[in-house]
Amino acid sequence: MGKEYQIAVIAGDGVGPEVVREARRVLDAVASIDGFRYRCSEFPYGADHYLKTQELMPDSALRELRDFDAIFLGAIGDPRVETGLLERAIVAGVRFGLDLYVNLRPVKLYHEDLTPLKGKTPKDVDMIFVRENTEDLYVGIHGFFKKGTDDEVAIQEMVMTRKGVERAVRYAFELARKRGKSKRLMLIDKANALRGQDIWTRIFEEVGAEYPEIQRDHAYIDAAMMWMVKNPEWFDVAVVPNMFGDIITDLGAAIQGGMGLAASGNLHPGQVSMFEPIHGSAPKHAGRNVICPLAAIAAVQMLLDYVGEERAATRIEQSMAAALQSGRIRDLSTSSGTATTEYTDHVLEELRAAAP
Ligand code: IPM
Ligand code: MN
Repeated sequence: MGKEYQIAVIAGDGVGPEVVREARRVLDAVASIDGFRYRCSEFPYGADHYLKTQELMPDSALRELRDFDAIFLGAIGDPRVETGLLERAIVAGVRFGLDLYVNLRPVKLYHEDLTPLKGKTPKDVDMIFVRENTEDLYVGIHGFFKKGTDDEVAIQEMVMTRKGVERAVRYAFELARKRGKSKRLMLIDKANALRGQDIWTRIFEEVGAEYPEIQRDHAYIDAAMMWMVKNPEWFDVAVVPNMFGDIITDLGAAIQGGMGLAASGNLHPGQVSMFEPIHGSAPKHAGRNVICPLAAIAAVQMLLDYVGEERAATRIEQSMAAALQSGRIRDLSTSSGTATTEYTDHVLEELRAAAP
């Protein structure tokens, strides 16, 4: 019998519990095929827990999370709670609290019918973003002066450190080396207008000198967004500051078929890391059995790859790819007509068909 993994589950709000439930069906299936065990421990954090107890994400929970092999998060956010309160405390809380400095976000097209880009096919859309995950506008340093008056001033600080930038950049070079596809790494920033971001440009060159076999590209975020749409085939591995990374990966999700498929890993290599779909809690779709769970399933794939169950991870990806390529899933939106549970059924069918 293989290893037993300890997985912390924060199902969260809105559609979070549904997509987590579906992803666990797939996790169960590969665990029995590949002969490993896992135990899920549920953490209650999210809107209901907050409204009942006034507790967001206690420090004690962050300490407990450190002892797990991985964390699986559904989605956080609820219109009954002040904007951003839950997201900052729980999603950002875990990212910052556990120092998960890379947010890894693959963008891959599995069937040409899924992309809104005219004439683009799976060979054109296969890229991965290394989003810096613990700095930038997200550190939360902000304030208001003369709030609510005609003279109001608001500030939100963009914070970049040598350590923070360097570790993200280094991770990206290592990934470009390991992935070995085009051996190109693109830095995306806005250093022409935001001169503070020159720290990215310089560190990218410095670290890049240690990776002579990786070709370095540099793009400004505005142009990069345009090229993503016009020439997605130019992208392989890209490293990007936190805020721009948030934005460009929603565009990435759209070109691979929608938020229903986009997954992410919040990583601190060598330590417990957190995996989640990049979509939000979509409260208006909660409980309607319409949300696509493939993003959560892809997050489980990333989780398994991270903990060392590469074979199971590959199995999940191949089953998702086969289900999408079979033509039975043409649309991942909430109006696709495919029920949440049916998406999973398709993946499980492919999984069983391919199982040894
Ligand atoms: C994401 C989300 C989060 C972010 C929110 C929920 C704080 O949009 O994971 O992309 O902005 O990073
Ligand atoms: Mn986002």
